Amino acid sequence: MQIGYNIRIMAVTRKKAEARIRELRSELEIHNRNYYVLNAPVISDFEYDLLMQELISLEKMFPELSSPESPTQKVGSDLSTGNKSFRQYPHRFPMLSLGNTYNADELAEFDSRIFQITGYQPEYNCELKFDGTAICLIYESGRLVRALTRGDGVKGDDVTANVLTIGSIPENIGSVPFNFEIRGEIYMPFEAFDRLNSERVEQEEAPFANPRNAASGSLKLLDSSEVRTRGLRCVLYHILGEKLPFSRHTEAIEWAAEHGFPVSEHSRICHSIDEVRNYISEWDTQRKYLPFPTDGIVIKINDLSLQKRLGFTAKTPRWATAFKFKPEEALTRVLSFDWQVGRTGAVTPVANLEPVQLSGTVVKRATLHNFEQMDILDIRIDDWVYVEKGGEIIPKITRVETSRRSENSLRPQYPSVCPVCGTPLIKDDDEAKNYCPNQDGCPPQIIGRFVHFASRKAMNILLGDATVTQLYEKGYVKELQDLFTLTKSQLLTLDGWKERSADRLLESLQKSLSVPFPRVLFALGIRHVGETTAKMLARHFRSIDAISQASVEDLTALEDVGSVLAGTIHEWFRDDRHQMTVSSLREAGLRFEVDDDEGKLLSEALKGCTVVVSGNFSIPREEMKAKIAAHGGKNTSSVSSSTTYLLVGEKAGPEKLRKAESAGVRVIDENEFYRIIGENGQEEGSLF
Ligand code: IVH
Repeated sequence: MQIGYNIRIMAVTRKKAEARIRELRSELEIHNRNYYVLNAPVISDFEYDLLMQELISLEKMFPELSSPESPTQKVGSDLSTGNKSFRQYPHRFPMLSLGNTYNADELAEFDSRIFQITGYQPEYNCELKFDGTAICLIYESGRLVRALTRGDGVKGDDVTANVLTIGSIPENIGSVPFNFEIRGEIYMPFEAFDRLNSERVEQEEAPFANPRNAASGSLKLLDSSEVRTRGLRCVLYHILGEKLPFSRHTEAIEWAAEHGFPVSEHSRICHSIDEVRNYISEWDTQRKYLPFPTDGIVIKINDLSLQKRLGFTAKTPRWATAFKFKPEEALTRVLSFDWQVGRTGAVTPVANLEPVQLSGTVVKRATLHNFEQMDILDIRIDDWVYVEKGGEIIPKITRVETSRRSENSLRPQYPSVCPVCGTPLIKDDDEAKNYCPNQDGCPPQIIGRFVHFASRKAMNILLGDATVTQLYEKGYVKELQDLFTLTKSQLLTLDGWKERSADRLLESLQKSLSVPFPRVLFALGIRHVGETTAKMLARHFRSIDAISQASVEDLTALEDVGSVLAGTIHEWFRDDRHQMTVSSLREAGLRFEVDDDEGKLLSEALKGCTVVVSGNFSIPREEMKAKIAAHGGKNTSSVSSSTTYLLVGEKAGPEKLRKAESAGVRVIDENEFYRIIGENGQEEGSLF
């Protein structure tokens, strides 16, 4: 059996090694950030592991050049930064990574190293390596008290509220005689991933590159109700604590299963490295039929006292290693390129490929995202290219096999005008995409706007692509508001339409009038305003008029609203045609304010008060602001003499504190805030 790949380093001089080490370290730092923080890797895991392996080998060859700061010595950090406000807690036991290999020979080395230390052949437990994001669940007196991400291995983000949306994670397992932490992986099954990505594509939001990024991005959302819709799952594979009553890893996992924790059914005890190899080759095939992503096999020593004896390096345990599967790829040829125009006018290049079999399906098309990505790949018609699936709806092209390129191949000519309506394309400096600006005359944009408006998560109107096209071509609808003046006699002129179909559409239009404001806002199709942003804007501003009047500064003051998004929203409302659409839709009866129930104040404790929040609290900052609004207060972003309270959490801005002091503004902490609004704070807002 041939498993894996060899990674070789040629002989190098010290000087060359030094330069290359520097280069690799900075490259790996960038990839770490892309992977762990931005959830948007630009290279595959395999390419990343190759770079890491090269660095490890060079540092081994020249130990005097190694450093504790090197990415070989540190776990990549996924700690939230900037606006995101998860509270961070230290890990009681560092949360480490695993050594890995793509090469069967190196597995034998792992085995013989263990043999040398112990003098006997230990029992291994082989497990699937789940491709998600690591989680640490802390239980005290049988209750889940906190869920932390891996973070930088030393401290992690508190994502308890989000984790509790995953049904299989027990909140309370009853009385147990010890406290413990149980660690595992939060992952996204392929089905949930496909659903999420098609919704994102429909809404012209960037799809996630793979289910791992989708899981990690979802776990870091500030809105738990949104997390609940993402279909995350959890599997647990490691229990830690002081004086635990287990002598073998499998015993601990069985105990976890008996107490209601989700564990894997696919693990196996192996008594030799040959048995480990068999397990690997079985799962290399079988994993393709699993409904969730795996990227390898984890091999762990089963005996916990032996695990303890072997211990850890700075970054990985010596008692476990991972064998990683190389992602499946296929080689095929590029037949042509299409330039697709979407609802927002964005032009997306798509490659038409010679059909090729990949992971059980035939691949004919691959997305290229934008012209810049085409330049990076240097892709041309007739090129041989590698396609990889990674669970994406449309597979992606990872690289071009330039050795098979014909001599007279030409770089593709990118369109400078819209391929549908001929309008010259434009490109904002801060965006990678090219856009057709002809919003009102470019058919795919107009039709796309209607389809988006009618979509399930927006107005939920029974209206598909084909009907919109007919309605548009017959001149019955030009603007969104025209939908609400459609008549039955008009509908009966559509191809194949009868009484029943016309009635059904009219009924669903009528029903859509009760769709709540956040969905109406999302339905308007403002560029970059997806479902989550729409909900957040609605919750904060409460009415379309307030959003329309908000300044760019008011908008950027919101969490997760950067200057590009703020600029886009602000500009959208400065366009008279959009104002006209809003006022006609309002006349038609659509909701442009949060519902009465939602709007009902919990109390008037903060009536007339203006509050500025700063720092981190026990709940996400956006929730804190929602509480202020729910008790009649007004949120603002900067402290002035008209501010009533400066509400400070951990790491509050010193500048705000100084201003509050000089303006005589009362500074309150979270506990005092809860007293003012008459809530029990921690108890009420917390989990138990
Ligand atoms: S055991 C001390 N078992 O893979 C580390 N990890 O690439 C103990 N992973 O950090 C980890 N499946 O997030 C373990 N069956 C499994 C796993 C697994 C996936 C993840 C984990 C780890 C990463 C290393």
